[in-house]
Amino acid sequence: MPVPFTFTYKTYFEVGCYVVLLFFVVPIRIDNDYEIREQFMQYVKDFNKSYLDENIFNIRFDAFKKSLETINQLNSNRTNTSAHYGLTKFSDLSPEEFLLIQNNRRNTDALVGNDFGELQNRVSKRSTYWKNVPQKVDWRKKGVVSGVKYQKNCGACWAFSVTETIESMQAIKNKNLTELSVQQMIDCSIYNNGCQGGDTCSLLSWIKDSNVTIETETDYPLVLRDQKCRKTTNFHGGVRINDYVCDTFIGREDIILKLLATNGPVVVSVSGETWQNYVGGVIQFHCDGEISHAVQIVGYDLTAEVPYYIARNSWGEDFGDKGYLYLAIGSNICHLAYEVAAVTVA
Ligand SMILES: *[C@@H]1O[C@H](CO)[C@@H](O)[C@H](O)[C@H]1NC(C)=O
Ligand SMILES: *[C@@H]1O[C@H](CO)[C@@H](O)[C@H](O)[C@H]1NC(C)=O
Ligand SMILES: *[C@@H]1O[C@H](CO)[C@@H](O)[C@H](O)[C@H]1NC(C)=O
Ligand SMILES: *[C@@H]1O[C@H](CO)[C@@H](O)[C@H](O)[C@H]1NC(C)=O
Ligand SMILES: *[C@@H]1O[C@H](CO)[C@@H](O)[C@H](O)[C@H]1NC(C)=O
Repeated sequence: MPVPFTFTYKTYFEVGCYVVLLFFVVPIRIDNDYEIREQFMQYVKDFNKSYLDENIFNIRFDAFKKSLETINQLNSNRTNTSAHYGLTKFSDLSPEEFLLIQNNRRNTDALVGNDFGELQNRVSKRSTYWKNVPQKVDWRKKGVVSGVKYQKNCGACWAFSVTETIESMQAIKNKNLTELSVQQMIDCSIYNNGCQGGDTCSLLSWIKDSNVTIETETDYPLVLRDQKCRKTTNFHGGVRINDYVCDTFIGREDIILKLLATNGPVVVSVSGETWQNYVGGVIQFHCDGEISHAVQIVGYDLTAEVPYYIARNSWGEDFGDKGYLYLAIGSNICHLAYEVAAVTVA
């Protein structure tokens, strides 16, 4: 359902997220880079890969070789507190395939939320010092974070991250974690382009302005492709938001910490190019690419050697640390402070 994109007053930028291309079946070719080929064969085996034909096999092999180079680069000068990079299920994609960015438009003037109300009050009671917030927050331990999802080849990270955050806020408020419909956002949000990309703040603006009831996952299940927006009047158990804030907090990550501590999980837009080969640790460097992805932040730890945010991704449980990544606090790493959103539910 490609929607004509006429939204201008708050354009932010659309994130195409990461579109994962899937291929099948494996043939073999012999050439001289024998060792790397052996490594690739092992990779194919370890990750249950299969490619359609020899041509595709060779394309994947070239991408794999590029990933090995990137991994070596990212791991050079590594210290015991660095993030680790290695082979992942995405290592046989070229960086271009991995990062399909649609309509990635930046507009730094446009980063203003709605009528903030209560949330704005909370934000404006700015705490300048990290020591004024709890040293550790992890909303997963409160049972308000559902299982890690896998967006596959649907570029709807913007819908996942926002829906998951509303879901958590509902759970915090009503002490009842109910999975909410990501698919409804993909199908119905008028300012976004479904599986071709979207923007988290545009989605929140639509949800608030249209007084949308976000249905449960059971009533409006995930299919990971664009569909016609379905009428949802007969459903029950849906959630409406009360308010949201969407703003840029570069240099003011204390506000992000405060939102996490006093309100709940937040949504952040990020650059995720180097995440392709992320296998663990706290990302502190090598993350300056274009903003193209969005995730939910579910907590942080200020007591760690390198203080970090806990980011919940939507690339499956077998990515990163059981689906999660860790991002350093305080340096706008991966541009995470550029477009931050928090919500309250009705
Ligand atoms: C590969 O497939 C096997 C058998 O289906 C499964 O046990 C294993 O977990 C899979 N490995 C990966 C990395 O998906
Ligand atoms: C690693 O360290 C070397 C020497 O100190 C330096 O020249 C190089 O730029 C560093 N590489 C990275 C990726 O930081
Ligand atoms: C990392 O190395 C530093 C000194 O090189 C040491 O003090 C610190 O304990 C190490 N951290 C871990 C997690 O091993
Ligand atoms: C939103 O919809 C609900 C249910 O239809 C209604 O009770 C509520 O008053 C509406 N809120 C606004 C701000 O229109
Ligand atoms: C939790 O939410 C679900 C879906 O909205 C609802 O069916 C169920 O009754 C709720 N349970 C409690 C204890 O509120």
